[in-house]
Amino acid sequence: MMMPSHPAADLCIEHLTVVIRKADRPLVVVNNVSLEIPAGRSVGLVGESGAGKSMTAYAVLRILPTDAAAITGGRILLGDVDLVPLPEPELNRYRGARIGMIFQEPSAALNPILSVGEQVKEGIVVHHGKKGARERAVEALRQVGLDPSFFGRYPHQLSGGQQQRVLIASAIAPGPSVLIADEPTSGLDVTVQAQILDLLYRVQQELGMSMLLITHSLGLVAQRTEHVYVMRRGEIVESGPTAQVFEDPKHPYTRTILKIAREISAYRRTCGF
Ligand SMILES: Nc1ncnc2c1ncn2[C@@H]1O[C@H](COP(=O)(O)OP(=O)(O)OP(=O)(O)O)[C@@H](O)[C@H]1O
Ligand SMILES: [Mg+2]
Repeated sequence: MMMPSHPAADLCIEHLTVVIRKADRPLVVVNNVSLEIPAGRSVGLVGESGAGKSMTAYAVLRILPTDAAAITGGRILLGDVDLVPLPEPELNRYRGARIGMIFQEPSAALNPILSVGEQVKEGIVVHHGKKGARERAVEALRQVGLDPSFFGRYPHQLSGGQQQRVLIASAIAPGPSVLIADEPTSGLDVTVQAQILDLLYRVQQELGMSMLLITHSLGLVAQRTEHVYVMRRGEIVESGPTAQVFEDPKHPYTRTILKIAREISAYRRTCGF
């Protein structure tokens, strides 16, 4: 059964700039970045550590990790609405409800003293009220492959993969139109990573959400996204349909990361894993 969701919407980032104030001079961590996630599509964002991928994601929900960071330019359009000038209380109506986010460290994102079912329920209650919230939470858990017996369990009683499933359930439960997944599998072992990515992809397709998938794994981007953006030092250096970018990379940096990724996978094959 499909859960009621907000209507599909494009997320369009236009000329976004994010700056961190420093004692000597400001550091531009996101520099004039434009990227588009068409409604119902899955888009990848890749690039080296420190490139500004997470900052771009945080800017969308205005949850920048330090008070010194600020959006200094650009627009973030969800459908027709620009989120950048919205006052906090109004933006709160979008956080979680219209745009869901999944972070890297499931154990850090879960509250250790609240049962997983209550945590999934929380977002539903905030955005849709208490009525039917429990049933909707159970349904969200079911969608990520966790049966109703998980409702009353606590995070420490779950494996890392199960914890990440709970976070995915929490993110999809309020029925967002857009899902931003920032390294959703990096804390997990390789086999579980593939399962979680398959799951994310399946729920994204089933629920018709738009998804921004931020990852270091070019293999996952190749399999699971239609369009890819390559980021380096705060800027998008290349973008295009994923197959095209991977087959015929134009930017030297994209060529380098593809070459490294191929070497790693060849090495893994030779070593039998
Ligand atoms: N809390 C913070 N305080 C100050 N600077 C930060 C903070 N978080 C990130 N930065 C800086 O912002 C820049 C972009 O970081 P960001 O976290 O967006 O990179 P990333 O592309 O997500 O990297 P990774 O792949 O390692 O997650 C980096 O120069 C980083 O040092
Ligand atoms: Mg990051």
